[in-house]
Amino acid sequence: MSEGSRIPGFYKLGLAERRAVVSSRAGVDLAELEHALEAGGLDTATADKVVENVLGIYGLPFGVALNVRVNGIDRLVPMVVEEPSVIAAASNAARMIRQSGGFRAEVVESLMIGQVQITDVEHPAAAVARLEAATPRLLELATKAVPNLIARGGGPRAIDVRDLGQRCIVLHVLVDCRDAMGANLVNTIAEALGPITAEIAGGKLGLRILSNLCDRRRVHATCRVHARELVSSPRSSKAAERGSNSESPDELDGLEVVDAIVSASRFAELDPYRAATHNKGIMNGIDAVVLATGNDFRAVEAGAHAYAARSGHYAPLAVWRRDGEDLVGQLELPLSLGIVGGTLRVHPTARLALKILGVSSADELAMVAASVGLASNLSALRALATEGIQRGHMSLHARSVASAAGALGDEVELVAARIATDGLITVEAAERALSQLRGPR
Ligand code: MEV
Repeated sequence: MSEGSRIPGFYKLGLAERRAVVSSRAGVDLAELEHALEAGGLDTATADKVVENVLGIYGLPFGVALNVRVNGIDRLVPMVVEEPSVIAAASNAARMIRQSGGFRAEVVESLMIGQVQITDVEHPAAAVARLEAATPRLLELATKAVPNLIARGGGPRAIDVRDLGQRCIVLHVLVDCRDAMGANLVNTIAEALGPITAEIAGGKLGLRILSNLCDRRRVHATCRVHARELVSSPRSSKAAERGSNSESPDELDGLEVVDAIVSASRFAELDPYRAATHNKGIMNGIDAVVLATGNDFRAVEAGAHAYAARSGHYAPLAVWRRDGEDLVGQLELPLSLGIVGGTLRVHPTARLALKILGVSSADELAMVAASVGLASNLSALRALATEGIQRGHMSLHARSVASAAGALGDEVELVAARIATDGLITVEAAERALSQLRGPR
């Protein structure tokens, strides 16, 4: 993306103008973009071929996060999410982070895990040793099972065997799935290895399936924000102008905000009840990118939370520390994403999302998704540690309530502003505001 992901005033543009700006910035044909976004991009006939018992299509908003720069490259990041404020919050935090150069991210290993379970093993320790010794033969068999993956430069890389106790052992086959998420590839390999594994182990063949705890396909993202950035948000300045008794980020010293965010991080590190919500804030960003790009959000969620609990104590996926006058965030989680196959075959909107992003590998996509997760987390903690989350949330929530009350076009902002100012964000209040706005008929 040549012109960058910073587009001041983007949210004030009309929908058609926003589409035109994104089409030009991302170098995507406008007609293609419009076609892929009309009615969610999926028609009922296609949907009927994707899953069973289809009745129709369920739509969700598709937006873009701005200001995201990962490893020096600007990205407009498509996000699909129903929760107001998630996209604005990620964009806002990414704007602060880009002042210090943006996110740094890397993918660790990029190997998926297939599991073969063997039960009723007579002598587990000896079975483990025999399977380890048979590694070359097992890898050869696994290679034969996925010729197309081999042609793309991927394939099985290693075998790992563990004794689980109770006469049960498990064989892991580690697979480089290149740009695929890899579930089908790994399951094919696990099934191909099943019978020989049982034979060598001298036990009964059990399950053959990938593990969603793909901790050999981890992504690590980090960012740095100077204290001054945490108190210079244009949106929160407006909130401060409106006048309020609670402390908005602008009414605090930047270093106080840094310390408050570090304290929020420590709370999550100490308490699984808080860590779950902290991680939910991270997944707000990650899931929205995962959905937009047609990836499997259930797999991502399963892996993220299993990884968060890997020490036996459920922990935050991202932690924040102070370094001089900077706030430094670190996020690590398993992320199995693809940019080929799966939903992408049938879904033009998912293909469009990848074009807007401009990523050329699954690893790049994972690095962007993790960065957006870190941005979402920062935004939530900054709000929570200062003025609280509700003010920002409620003013955005007011827009959907205004729409639900029947407001159209420009009326939505006017009605939302009215009910947010009155502090009564209900459909009934929005209906009253709407009829006042429209005046006598
Ligand atoms: C809401 O969707 C997410 C938050 O609860 C995350 C958090 O508490 O860190 C605001």
